[in-house]
Amino acid sequence: SRPIIIRNLARPRYFGTAANTTFLYNDQAYTQIISTQFSMMTPENDSMNFLKWENIEPQQNVFNFTGGDEIVRFAKSVNARVRGHTFEWQVYELLDSSSLSKRLIMKARGNQLAPWVNDSLTATQLDRALENHIKTVLNHYRGQLYAFDVINEMISDNTPNETFKDNIWTRKFGEIAMPKALQYARETDKNIKIYINDYGTEGINSKSDTLYSVVQGFIRDGVPVDGIGFQCHFYLGQVPTTIAENMQRFADLGLDVAVTEVDINMRGPENETALAQQAQDYWTIVNACVSTNRCVGVTIWGVSDDHSWLPNGNVLPWNAQKQPKPAFYAIADAF
Ligand code: XIL
Repeated sequence: SRPIIIRNLARPRYFGTAANTTFLYNDQAYTQIISTQFSMMTPENDSMNFLKWENIEPQQNVFNFTGGDEIVRFAKSVNARVRGHTFEWQVYELLDSSSLSKRLIMKARGNQLAPWVNDSLTATQLDRALENHIKTVLNHYRGQLYAFDVINEMISDNTPNETFKDNIWTRKFGEIAMPKALQYARETDKNIKIYINDYGTEGINSKSDTLYSVVQGFIRDGVPVDGIGFQCHFYLGQVPTTIAENMQRFADLGLDVAVTEVDINMRGPENETALAQQAQDYWTIVNACVSTNRCVGVTIWGVSDDHSWLPNGNVLPWNAQKQPKPAFYAIADAF
């Protein structure tokens, strides 16, 4: 029988993954899977391969594109496209820090803005820094990226009381934090798809309602936005039942939608029941995309369980030995 190649089954949509230069070429089995199964890559943020601020502009106006360039080169060599990630993002608030090692928490917290991008800058200085950062990165990658998560994780977890997270952008710019970044991105590159990406907005709930009205306002006011990304970092069995309906309502605003960072965290033993539930969860997410018009593709956050950002999570469709798990077949089936 012919091998299952998900990127082919996904057409006309794409099947993507977070790509990591730490493992590319160094781990043969990883490189083999990522080369054959995926038609989209998002640079993950380890050591040097990401497009997050801290590594790409560590000192003001000193840019380092080494890692990002390597992902772009690799993706091209396997005929895959690239989603950039990300500009406006401050602190990754861990949803359940108890399941993560202290080292990882430190790393996740440190892994966003460069130290020089801090509250000591005036609003004008920060504005210039943001503009220069976005324009330099998008000019460098002109024509080479399919999309960019210009905005990541900006909606508050305390809706409806608060709309945006309290971070450097909202402290300095208030309500126009997101429009600023979106506009700088559009001014620089008319063709790249500019995205607002978030977690906790996958189902119909208070947070996604807030995102929905923010985006409706942007469209009304002519603030540029092409797509909404739904991260989909879920715990086992907790994919919201309203995910397809929710994605469709954003699509109905005239936007693309995408699933951007799926993993399904078992938080427990990997027995047959858990593996079957994990497969079901992946199926539900992919099926939601397939049944939503304008859902352009599904990206999972890694390839195999040994290289996930979530330690001991057993979260991905390939196990640590790089063998396909039930989730792999479920994804193939749903596409
Ligand atoms: C994670 C990376 O996978 C880790 O390597 C890094 O240490 C922390 O960030 N939401 C996002 C991604 O938007 O950028 C995060 O990626 C995972 C959660």
